[in-house]
Amino acid sequence: MSVAESSLAGAAKTRPGFLDSSVGKKVVMAVTGIMLFGFVTVHMLGNLQAYMGEAPMNHYAEFLHTMIHGMGIWVFRGVMLVAVVLHGWAALSLTLSNMAARPVGYRATQVQAATFASRTMRWTGVILGLFIVYHLLHLTTGTLHPSFDPANPYRNFVTGFKVPLASAFYIVAQLCLGFHMWHGVWSLTQTLGWAHPRYDRLRRRFAYVMATVVAAVNISFPIAVLTGIIHL
Ligand code: HEM
Repeated sequence: MSVAESSLAGAAKTRPGFLDSSVGKKVVMAVTGIMLFGFVTVHMLGNLQAYMGEAPMNHYAEFLHTMIHGMGIWVFRGVMLVAVVLHGWAALSLTLSNMAARPVGYRATQVQAATFASRTMRWTGVILGLFIVYHLLHLTTGTLHPSFDPANPYRNFVTGFKVPLASAFYIVAQLCLGFHMWHGVWSLTQTLGWAHPRYDRLRRRFAYVMATVVAAVNISFPIAVLTGIIHL
């Protein structure tokens, strides 16, 4: 092999792949972001059953647990786990390469140009990660629930939110979700090439409305339980 050939082969071996580039990681964040956005929206709609009472909510939960002979929920859990892990990995990896490229940080004048939601993406993301772990131990496995009944999700919902500290954490996490979705939806439409002066107002409004509706409806659940609107 000539010197030129061997250096070409070496370069091919070490050439960074799509996922090593920051564009690749942003695409991973955008695609998994769409999946998570779809999930939280559908999950919020499903949870509205709590306002209809015990039987509708428990029937809905039973349907989710038994669809496709009980396999559906496991396929869904697997897909969501992969999406969450990839989303977190891409975020961490982009953060580390940004820090390596810009160890001193932006000057205050540049920071002011960003919105509160965009500047807090990392913090809201970390709080949401912690929230997901707590939420699964609270309402799915019941490990951190005061009186968990695996056969009655409605009862778990009500008795779970009767604990003020638990409700307070849900409310804080949903505020983080709102800010995270607001900037995230705006940003992912940019990454996927949908930025255009003609659609920018629509993109901005869509991100704002969806983030506000999902956060507000989710915050209404613990408040409805604490005020007795949703009860046993
Ligand atoms: C106040 C807002 C929320 C309420 C009231 C709520 C309620 C619930 C309930 C009752 C369950 C258990 C369902 C069952 O076992 O049948 C559940 C499961 C779950 N929730 Fe939420 N949720 C909320 C917000 C969120 C958010 C923001 C996320 C994600 C960021 C999320 C992710 C999940 C996941 C991954 C599961 C497990 C699904 C499974 O595999 O069984 N939830 N939620």
